[in-house]
Amino acid sequence: MSNPLQVKLPESLKGKTILVAGAAGFVPSTLAQFYLDLGAQVIGLDNFITGSRSNIEILKGYEGFEFMEWDISKNLPDFSGRTIDFIFSLASPASPIDFKTIPLEIMQVNSMGTQNLLELAKEKGARFLEASTSEVYGDPEIHPQVESYVGHVNPIGERAPYDESKRYAEAMTMMYNRRYGVDTRIVRIFNTYGPRMRPDDGRVIPNFINQAMNNEDITIYGDGSQTRSFCYVTDLVQAIHTVMFSEDSTPFNCGNPDEYTIKEAAEFIIDTLGSKSKLTYHPLPSDDPKKRRPDLTKLTSISDYSPQVSFKDGLIKTMEYFKTLK
Ligand SMILES: NC(=O)c1ccc[n+]([C@@H]2O[C@H](COP(=O)([O-])OP(=O)(O)OC[C@H]3O[C@@H](n4cnc5c(N)ncnc54)[C@H](O)[C@@H]3O)[C@@H](O)[C@H]2O)c1
Repeated sequence: MSNPLQVKLPESLKGKTILVAGAAGFVPSTLAQFYLDLGAQVIGLDNFITGSRSNIEILKGYEGFEFMEWDISKNLPDFSGRTIDFIFSLASPASPIDFKTIPLEIMQVNSMGTQNLLELAKEKGARFLEASTSEVYGDPEIHPQVESYVGHVNPIGERAPYDESKRYAEAMTMMYNRRYGVDTRIVRIFNTYGPRMRPDDGRVIPNFINQAMNNEDITIYGDGSQTRSFCYVTDLVQAIHTVMFSEDSTPFNCGNPDEYTIKEAAEFIIDTLGSKSKLTYHPLPSDDPKKRRPDLTKLTSISDYSPQVSFKDGLIKTMEYFKTLK
């Protein structure tokens, strides 16, 4: 018997217009391409603070794509007279290196940028999705993390510019939903990797792959016993798409529940890539979460979502992409 709560996913989005904020980024450009493939018109906005022009060049290969170089923290382009059906709020730097180098820009885009997009959604009657993060759980005291867990975040720590501004973005999204009736969705994205990531962005998978590809020492922070789960980018896009077309405005975890210690992940990458790298251990940064794994019960109760790309296949595809950048 089919589940009455099952999300009905559209087979085509011909005639629909989708705005993707952050379109030059890793996840947003993959999502924009997914919707272009479904026949939608896509408008991309990006100021290239962490995004890449080459991602925009790929999207420009589609007739239905339009790009505007824009800082959404300040204001938005004039869309008067235009229809916008769906808005994806994905513009935010997301790597731990960015938390140190551009903290204010992160806080501005997740506060003012998100509010500017919510105002546009309100004006256009568009459905709006906020890309939140597992970082809203901070260093979690429960495992795996369920959506009802309210988190354990240090508001003045080094990760606070990201964690707290994403929490604010969630609060702002729910406020527009409750006060103005804007049709909103929230996804809490867990660690995602894949082609189009910046190889030097400091996140664990690009770091390890690059070090392994060059047979360099692999840098492990702490003793490597902290855990993460890693989702391949096309699986994440499928999860985000499912939430966008669900009827539920409360947050959904999105990711892959397979859990690895950081040490296991490093060893797996060395093995998969046939590398001669050795592991080296360095002090753990402050507020680094000890455990991270999504509980996906809520998402799987409304859909038959399950990640399709194995860690091994995903790593190989990511490595192939990094090789093309050399
Ligand atoms: N990749 C992950 O593992 C992960 C995990 C949790 C949440 N997320 C969220 O998903 C979204 C995409 O992340 P990503 O990993 O693809 O990062 P990314 O840095 O590749 O993409 C973000 C894009 O937003 C753009 N941007 C930032 N500030 C902007 C501004 N003021 N105006 C216009 N454009 C701006 C950047 O230039 C970049 O192209 C982010 O909101 C991030 O917080 C990602």
